[in-house]
Amino acid sequence: MQVQINDIKRNWDFRSDTVTKPTTGMMAAMLNAPVGDSVFGEDPTVLELESRVAKLCGKEAALFCASSTMGNQLAIRAHLHSPPESILCHAKSHIFQYESGGASLLSQAMMLPVTPSNSINLTAKDVEDNLILDNSFCHKAPTKLVALENTFSGVVMPLEDMQQIAALAHGHGIPVHLDGSRLWNASAATGISIADYVKDMDSVNLCLSKGMGCPVGALLVGSTAFIDKARHFRKVFGGGWRQAGILAAAGLYAIDNIWPTMKHSHQQARRLADGMTRMGFTLVLPVETNMVLLALDAEHKPACEKLIDMLKTEGVILGLVYEGSLRLVVHHQIDDTCIDLVLSTASKLGLSSN
Ligand SMILES: Cc1ncc(COP(=O)(O)O)c(C=O)c1O
Repeated sequence: MQVQINDIKRNWDFRSDTVTKPTTGMMAAMLNAPVGDSVFGEDPTVLELESRVAKLCGKEAALFCASSTMGNQLAIRAHLHSPPESILCHAKSHIFQYESGGASLLSQAMMLPVTPSNSINLTAKDVEDNLILDNSFCHKAPTKLVALENTFSGVVMPLEDMQQIAALAHGHGIPVHLDGSRLWNASAATGISIADYVKDMDSVNLCLSKGMGCPVGALLVGSTAFIDKARHFRKVFGGGWRQAGILAAAGLYAIDNIWPTMKHSHQQARRLADGMTRMGFTLVLPVETNMVLLALDAEHKPACEKLIDMLKTEGVILGLVYEGSLRLVVHHQIDDTCIDLVLSTASKLGLSSN
């Protein structure tokens, strides 16, 4: 039987990098993947992906999960032991804001959101000021996990901050989990290896279905004992899967073929940001990887809304209002023609930079 694969010709959708669709090459890799029963530990492609990503992180083991939400929630469940417990995290982190209150449901843990003093990333001082160490008064839930996120809204968390926070937390016997859903982007942008980024982290979650372009999947990485525990909970949560090699094959393909294209996506985001600011739009966060967040205040909102409408007629989708800003996310299925089109359309709006 001949299988026809329809190639993705155009995916001019800036709402998120989660909109990326499998390419012909990725689909071919998936079709040809050797598979087995992954719950029995017998799927060779899943095993290959887990071992490759564990090695990439310089850690002992990895667990292929359905999504980043699952990876993060399994990490929380596997790190914690018995309530009352709390997890210190960035107040705008995905783990706190966008995982449906999972920590309270699945791990009976309280999230302690902290607003960074520099308004972007947590520093060791922010963490130190908010740790709950002394429970002698019994009103509080002691900090039993610190959760970081890199990149955060496209901004790279500096390695030194991660190292200082880990040293502080470890000094109190507290493990650190990294939501590294877009750590691929951080590494591509800075040239710092994934292994260097996660050296001091106790666990990390890496997503495959964002800029990496896979249909589903994430990898939770850590020590063998930690991953064994997480694998147990993955089964409890209904996430033990069988011939998952067809999905793992997409991940292996992405590491070799999509990850190397991220640098170009970052250059495109930079070009977009520079052009838009020259035309009078305002950035709400620095553009360091693939995200451009534009101000949607009273001055800029009409122009942003007009831009969304005008581009819609050209087949370009914009429109994710994120934390009060218009978020444009560049991914490997946005080409240079599309960036040109957004810039030329924006230039017709008459916003002035002075
Ligand atoms: C930083 C971060 N972490 C975790 C997730 C969760 O990913 P998923 O929706 O695939 O579970 C997202 C999703 O956008 C995210 O941006």
